Amino acid sequence: LSKIEVKLGDIPEGKNMTFKWRGKPLFVRHRTEKEIATEEAVNMSELRDPQHDRDRVLKPKWMIVLGVCTHLGCVPISNAGEWGGYYCPCHGSHYDASGRIRKGPAPLNLEVPYYEFSDDDTIVVG
Ligand code: FES
Repeated sequence: LSKIEVKLGDIPEGKNMTFKWRGKPLFVRHRTEKEIATEEAVNMSELRDPQHDRDRVLKPKWMIVLGVCTHLGCVPISNAGEWGGYYCPCHGSHYDASGRIRKGPAPLNLEVPYYEFSDDDTIVVG
């Protein structure tokens, strides 16, 4: 399937759920207020691949990225690593709760796919 619809109401706050989209893992994360505040406040100079959080999400509560490490393509573990976002166990890349690379060999942030909200509670990816 080239598009996937995800019902956001099924995802509890603080949790990341993994879906399969175009043969790849798709992460949908329901971020907490604390995570949102932390990610919005990050200074661009701290980042290897500088991108503001607001340019990576449509609505701050929801972060949607591909679950594919930008180093060599392993699937990162959610709610893990030094920044509490994602941790890739293959060679130790740490991502924050905006999916931005913070430490380890990966060169780039986790990719944000094209998606839109079809209503308040539903996204369509692809
Ligand atoms: Fe993720 Fe190497 S594939 S750190």
